Amino acid sequence: MRPTELLLDPSLRLGCAALLTAAYAGVCGAVNWRERYRRKARTALARAGADSPAWLVLYASQTGAAEQMALETARHLHQAGLAAQVLELNQLSARQLQTTERALFIASTCGEGDVPDNGALFATQQMAQALALPNLHFAVLALGDDSYAKHCAFGRALDAWLNDCGAQAMAPRIEMNRGNAEALSAWQALLTHLAGSSDAPDWTAPDFQTWRLVERACLNPGSQGAPLYEITLMPAAGALPDWASGDLAQVQLAADPGRPREYSIASLPAEGALRLLVRLHRDANGVNGLGSGWFAEAEIGSHIPLRVRPHRLFRLGPNARRPLILIGNGSGLAGLRAHIKAREQSGCGDNWLIYGERNAAHDAIWAPELEGWRDAGMLKRLDRVFSRDGQGPRYVQDVLRDSADLLRHWVDEGAAIYVCGSRQGMAQDVDAALNAALGEAGLASLALAGRYRRDVY
Ligand SMILES: Cc1cc2nc3c(=O)[nH]c(=O)nc-3n(C[C@H](O)[C@H](O)[C@H](O)COP(=O)(O)OP(=O)(O)OC[C@H]3O[C@@H](n4cnc5c(N)ncnc54)[C@H](O)[C@@H]3O)c2cc1C
Ligand SMILES: Cc1cc2nc3c(=O)[nH]c(=O)nc-3n(C[C@H](O)[C@H](O)[C@H](O)COP(=O)(O)O)c2cc1C
Repeated sequence: MRPTELLLDPSLRLGCAALLTAAYAGVCGAVNWRERYRRKARTALARAGADSPAWLVLYASQTGAAEQMALETARHLHQAGLAAQVLELNQLSARQLQTTERALFIASTCGEGDVPDNGALFATQQMAQALALPNLHFAVLALGDDSYAKHCAFGRALDAWLNDCGAQAMAPRIEMNRGNAEALSAWQALLTHLAGSSDAPDWTAPDFQTWRLVERACLNPGSQGAPLYEITLMPAAGALPDWASGDLAQVQLAADPGRPREYSIASLPAEGALRLLVRLHRDANGVNGLGSGWFAEAEIGSHIPLRVRPHRLFRLGPNARRPLILIGNGSGLAGLRAHIKAREQSGCGDNWLIYGERNAAHDAIWAPELEGWRDAGMLKRLDRVFSRDGQGPRYVQDVLRDSADLLRHWVDEGAAIYVCGSRQGMAQDVDAALNAALGEAGLASLALAGRYRRDVY
């Protein structure tokens, strides 16, 4: 399953562009709304009779913002007495869409104008053709960031496709740029109108808390690559919040408050601190990135606004007891390490880690811990590949190609696959190698079943 790249159609209507003025107001992502609503929303949907829903709430989300908004949207419909069903876009069949009268689409764009993983099958299979949708009434909320060239590309393409299929827009497309508060209000107002309710939804993004930089360790001195730091943080006041393996930390930078930077959390709350693995980003002129530069240079004891963000799409969730194949490179070890730690806690040793870096001499990140896990049976297999050692370049995708039989065996045994790290290069080539080993249909069915999950950037 390869995320589909969509080119912007310049003739697309701009819909609610007037609503999308600046005022990012620190709500970037508008994600991370109270996790406690998630369970309530699902329970409420069940009560509302999800068997014969009047409304479909469909989302495509890479890091959870659109998913969260879909749950809040459904919760609001339910509170207004309407039945609704929330689905990932990939779960939606052509037939279901053709027999639905009202659907709300919440679609993010990821990568460089790409479709989120849980919408990619829908984009390649359903959107490749025109369906007859004369009975469908719809509205689209497109999430994006206008610092990317293909702004809201997927939401726009989806909107255009629905129009081409003869579906009837209940309102112009709303574009939410970087969690823009006005766009959120516009969507909430639309929901109130559509649901005929008098109560306006009251979703808000959680505040950032002040955190303290406790420790920094460079893990790859002498590396050919940019420095990679283990960063330890603690709340400046109060207790550690709760999180699960797979979750993200978002930091807000004084110089760019509207675009928080995301980092995969490498530790679990039980370890007593929040740890990240941060690669220093330098541009072509050697200027440090704002976020990674802060982590690389800030004085120990400095404060930074941070919030922990559930990343349900990359959590273990229903895969918690399955065998796991964990694949990643560079700073991607952060998210994979948290998963292995969680598995250690639950005593599940069916884990296969495939990790790539440059040189064994300088880039054997967290080697004692990984080798300890291997020796203790927590990692049934540990494949580390160092691309600049040996005869020629060798990458994680090469391990997958060479071990295709074993890979198929693990998948037949029920394994789930988690990929964390670079989207360009690593994740794309891993996707191709998985396709080759498991077949396009095989990988697609794993993705649909939530057994192929990615935290790639
Ligand atoms: C889900 C997710 C998880 C991630 N996990 C990790 C992780 O575990 N470890 C890790 O090291 N990184 C991770 N990242 C990447 C991280 O969020 C940052 O992108 C990275 O640290 C670079 O940010 P920076 O602030 O240092 O660089 P920036 O200052 O953002 O600079 C990066 C590039 O963007 C350009 N740029 C800067 N500002 C703008 C702007 N306003 N508009 C357009 N272009 C701009 C710069 O010129 C530069 O080329 C993750 C990203 C995502 C999405
Ligand atoms: C790595 C990355 C790539 C992104 N690429 C795009 C893009 O090409 N176009 C766009 O409009 N927004 C882009 N965005 C912004 C996201 O669409 C926006 O942050 C959205 O809220 C994410 O929603 P999600 O959590 O549901 O995936 C990107 C964000 C990230 C972190």
